[in-house]
Amino acid sequence: MTISSQNNTDAKQLKLEALYTSIESLRTEFRNGGYCPDLLEEEILILREKIRLILADQGRSAATNIVLTARLKRHSPGSNPWVCNFSGSGQYFAMKESEKRVNTLKDKTVLIMGGTSGIGLAAARQLATRGASVVVTGRNRERADQVRKDNPTLRTEIVDASSPTDLSRFYASMANFDDLVLCVSGAKGAGPFISLDISELRSGFEEKFFAQFQAAQAALPFLRKDGSLTFISAISARMANPGTVGLAAINGAIESMVRPLARELRPLRVNAISPGVVETPWWDRLPQELRDSSLQQAAAASLVGRNGSAGELGSAIEFVVTNGFVTGTVLEIDGGLHLV
Ligand SMILES: NC(=O)c1ccc[n+]([C@@H]2O[C@H](COP(=O)([O-])OP(=O)(O)OC[C@H]3O[C@@H](n4cnc5c(N)ncnc54)[C@H](OP(=O)(O)O)[C@@H]3O)[C@@H](O)[C@H]2O)c1
Repeated sequence: MTISSQNNTDAKQLKLEALYTSIESLRTEFRNGGYCPDLLEEEILILREKIRLILADQGRSAATNIVLTARLKRHSPGSNPWVCNFSGSGQYFAMKESEKRVNTLKDKTVLIMGGTSGIGLAAARQLATRGASVVVTGRNRERADQVRKDNPTLRTEIVDASSPTDLSRFYASMANFDDLVLCVSGAKGAGPFISLDISELRSGFEEKFFAQFQAAQAALPFLRKDGSLTFISAISARMANPGTVGLAAINGAIESMVRPLARELRPLRVNAISPGVVETPWWDRLPQELRDSSLQQAAAASLVGRNGSAGELGSAIEFVVTNGFVTGTVLEIDGGLHLV
């Protein structure tokens, strides 16, 4: 046997093993999740054999189709309204066509206010990768230009979410869009209650609560009625950390809006993501020493022993934007900080 044919055989063997693992997880999933509890042992054996033969000269996608076809025949004989997608990791999804339309990002425009940095930017990249047209906004033109240069698929716009004039000009120029994510915030409002400066707290509310509030309100005429609205709050709203009473109030106010808004604006889906400590440029506003010690303390307190990444928050945003069944929810993405 030549070296190259040995390599080919090894590659095929690897593919085969990967596929067997998928079949195993499919079977476990069927059993545990009840998708297909009556899939028989012998049927799995037959499928495996078919897969082995197909792998010999075709490849994985044809083989997985066989698995799905077998499953579909059992559960949706004749013309079936189900659309199925089986990913190589063993995950299985089944959706009706109508659900699929809601859950897809294709032909959708997602607007991320405060998307030129950190969490918003990570979400923008992930949503764009999945096929959405994504528009990100910020106030700083230099930063926006850099984002556009690094991410040519993202459209960037300069908008101050605290300015009603800016908001109406911008929304009018956007025409309609499907999903709105609000990541804007300042950094004011922290400190012990006894010495908390009320004008600082008011600024904190202006920069985050009122900025997100009015950006959401002004967007309604342009936001698709069955689209989604996602606020980004902060886990301070759900903790009992001394020195964070102002931040808890600002973010608690945002989170309190989610449930009544979800009912008032239905079928628009309204959710919030409540991040723990996430290493983004947001922390660069603090003096370096304070920044480093705060991040270290937060990582040590977290149940996972570290702080979050912008990407982890980005995928949570992607989840609420793309899952048409999620509404009225505040999702804690905080490494367990809310339990500390
Ligand atoms: N990082 C964390 O540890 C953490 C923890 C809990 C909650 N959060 C929340 O997560 C959200 C995103 O934070 P991040 O860490 O990604 O912060 P970031 O890296 O500082 O990004 C903030 C983004 O918002 C934009 N922005 C701020 N105020 C704006 C305004 N008035 N109008 C338009 N754009 C505005 C900024 O761009 P310009 O400056 O150019 O305007 C930037 O694009 C915030 O609501 C924050 O409170 C973050």
